[in-house]
Amino acid sequence: MSAEILRTVDLTKRFGSFVAVDHVNFSLREGEVAGIVGPNGAGKTTFFNLVTGYHPPDEGRVVYLGQDVTHAPPQHRVGLGLVRTFQLASTFDALSVLDNLVLARFSRLHSGANVRVLLTAPRRRYYDDPRVQEVLERFQLVSQRDRLVRHLSLGEKRRLEIAMAILSEPRVLMLDEPLAGLSEAEIHQVMDVLRSQVGQRSMVVVEHKVSHLLGFVERLVVLHEGRVIAEGRPEECLQDPEVRRSYWRVGAESA
Ligand SMILES: Nc1ncnc2c1ncn2[C@@H]1O[C@H](COP(=O)(O)OP(=O)(O)OP(=O)(O)O)[C@@H](O)[C@H]1O
Ligand SMILES: [Mg+2]
Repeated sequence: MSAEILRTVDLTKRFGSFVAVDHVNFSLREGEVAGIVGPNGAGKTTFFNLVTGYHPPDEGRVVYLGQDVTHAPPQHRVGLGLVRTFQLASTFDALSVLDNLVLARFSRLHSGANVRVLLTAPRRRYYDDPRVQEVLERFQLVSQRDRLVRHLSLGEKRRLEIAMAILSEPRVLMLDEPLAGLSEAEIHQVMDVLRSQVGQRSMVVVEHKVSHLLGFVERLVVLHEGRVIAEGRPEECLQDPEVRRSYWRVGAESA
């Protein structure tokens, strides 16, 4: 079994008296693909925010590659290879696909560069970067290369966002609802893109469409009201009585 790469210890986040993430102990092995499911408001995005440094936890720790990164800023974690995508796509919509990819590459090569530096960076110099060319092909974006991102379909934009994350060379890639709002055809394309990453990095995928995670994730974690109520092999997890009670929609195609 491969080594552990990420662990949270009693990770907790409160908003006033409301506990959004409640003593979550989560661990991920090098190369593992895990899914996190749970109803709206279960704390999935908040958990991602804690792990990637967008919110400070009220209690608990985040340990990545044996280092305590609980209070490290997001960009520092990205530099260490702990990278996320957002529930709502985070691209530069007024720029081309190529420029977005080049900016992602540039920010990896110049970690810590802020948005102003990025936007004034000499992008052309990186247009032929082999890693940028490689992701254009792998993510089926070659024909969209010069289009402005605001003209892309949601599926193309989602692939671009994942491509941008990949250019920062993550060891752990955390994806928050990568399939949300996509058509069946787009879902297949995004899943193909994600499958192409298996074996190259660890992944954690938050997703409502549980059926798409079956056959993809090795392990499922079910969150409910901020707590882990079940985890294990996906098929077994979904049969768990508490999961069925708390999150009855979990097995339904429409969930
Ligand atoms: N910044 C915030 N301030 C106050 N409450 C918040 C904040 N962020 C999240 N919450 C609350 O914490 C709970 C968990 O929210 P979170 O976004 O983590 O859920 P989720 O599991 O990602 O849900 P969804 O499936 O709808 O994306 C919700 O009740 C939400 O309203
Ligand atoms: Mg969410």
